[in-house]
Amino acid sequence: MNLNEYIESRREEHLNELKQFLRIPSVSTKSEHKPDVEKAARWVAEKLRAAGLENVEIEPTKMHPLVYGESLRAPGEPTVLLYGHYDVQPAEPLELWTSPPFDPTVRGNNLFGRGTADDKGQVHIHLKALECLQNTAGKLPINVKAIIEGEEEVGSVSLWDFVQQNRERLKADALVVSDTSMLAKGVPSITYGLRGLNYYELEIIGPAQDLHSGAFGGAVPNPITILAEMIAKLHDKNFRVAIPGFYDDVASVFRAERKALNSLPWKEKDFRRMVGAPDLCGEKGYTAVEQLWVRPTLELNGIWGGYLGEGAKTVIPSKAYAKISTRLVPNQNPAKIAKLVERHIRKLLPKTVRCNFQVLSTGKPWVAAYTHPIFQKAIHALEAGFGKKAVFIREGGSIPFVTQMHDTFKIPCVLMGFGLPDENAHAPDEHIALENYFAGIKAVALFYESLSSQ
Ligand code: BES
Ligand code: MN
Ligand code: MN
Repeated sequence: MNLNEYIESRREEHLNELKQFLRIPSVSTKSEHKPDVEKAARWVAEKLRAAGLENVEIEPTKMHPLVYGESLRAPGEPTVLLYGHYDVQPAEPLELWTSPPFDPTVRGNNLFGRGTADDKGQVHIHLKALECLQNTAGKLPINVKAIIEGEEEVGSVSLWDFVQQNRERLKADALVVSDTSMLAKGVPSITYGLRGLNYYELEIIGPAQDLHSGAFGGAVPNPITILAEMIAKLHDKNFRVAIPGFYDDVASVFRAERKALNSLPWKEKDFRRMVGAPDLCGEKGYTAVEQLWVRPTLELNGIWGGYLGEGAKTVIPSKAYAKISTRLVPNQNPAKIAKLVERHIRKLLPKTVRCNFQVLSTGKPWVAAYTHPIFQKAIHALEAGFGKKAVFIREGGSIPFVTQMHDTFKIPCVLMGFGLPDENAHAPDEHIALENYFAGIKAVALFYESLSSQ
């Protein structure tokens, strides 16, 4: 049996095995799931061994273990460092799932469950591509090192220490990641740019304690009102971020790249339908693709305070809160942006309240040329696996590790994503299209094979 026939013959086994992986609720942000996270790490370790990797280790960290394995039996052939994550986002709100999040279910042409697209399904594509290569040829065609971590969804807190402590061991000719999306159905894609992410939490403190809104309302500051006023000032009428200096270092995009990105097979009409809002809203002067991929943003992720229970309660709350993030693009500096955001918020703050401003995390943006020959091999493998033309895209999401690896090792980073933008990553009814999962295994196997000089 050749590689392709072998992959075809294993479809059912592959899908059933992925379902096993998805049944482990490895939610990294919740301490109650610590045992599940560890179980998922052991599961990944076992599958790395089955794929022909050796020296497989579950590396303990301060939080969740990362799994490392390598196969270095192809002297003279290139070495690829594979990165992915086995942790997932919380599944709540549970009542919005059609089938339970950790009971993976096929409906129509999709597999539903938390982690299907982000990122267990995509990690599994690589595990099975490697295993199929190993089983058909008796060995892997190239050298492979794999890091599959369990803290991506909580900011990869331990990953960088591990990389620093294992710099020699992790040396590779290229980084390969499948944790991104395809542009659209039937359009296999390589992502060459990601936005960076800074995350902040803001606490506005007014009266020393909650107050009766009749006895006190009218004469005292209301932290929620003040927070709302401040937040309303963070964008101007053209939906530009109204923080002085915010755009100072934003790299302008050359006309040729703008043209290429705007002529991709991407329809604003489909995007509108997917979003489902009465209308879109973004920075004036840029197309939606540009707003999503090459322009920075400031977003409110949550805002709360006061009484949120059933019925009415008349109260002036003592405190109000907001979770704010900024998506960053080249050449914005995360530390500098964090300072600008804090300074501006403090400037907007009236004397009637105090505030605590916390930077929860920072992460750099990434963009890279795709001139290295490995990118053409990746495009060819995607086209062979999917039977469709492949494209180069940028994306709006963030994988800080990619920037760190690129900056440190100066190696090409090949991001081949098999998710789709409407597959509900981080949301209820997350799913992956079965055709992309199966075609992904073929494409990745062909890609690894094509890297070998044999
Ligand atoms: N897989 C995503 C990153 C992603 C999303 C890339 C969409 C391209 C398109 C990753 O798991 C993720 O969710 N990243 C977080 C940031 C992280 C530091 C928690 C994000 O982008 O919000
Ligand atoms: Mn991910
Ligand atoms: Mn994610």
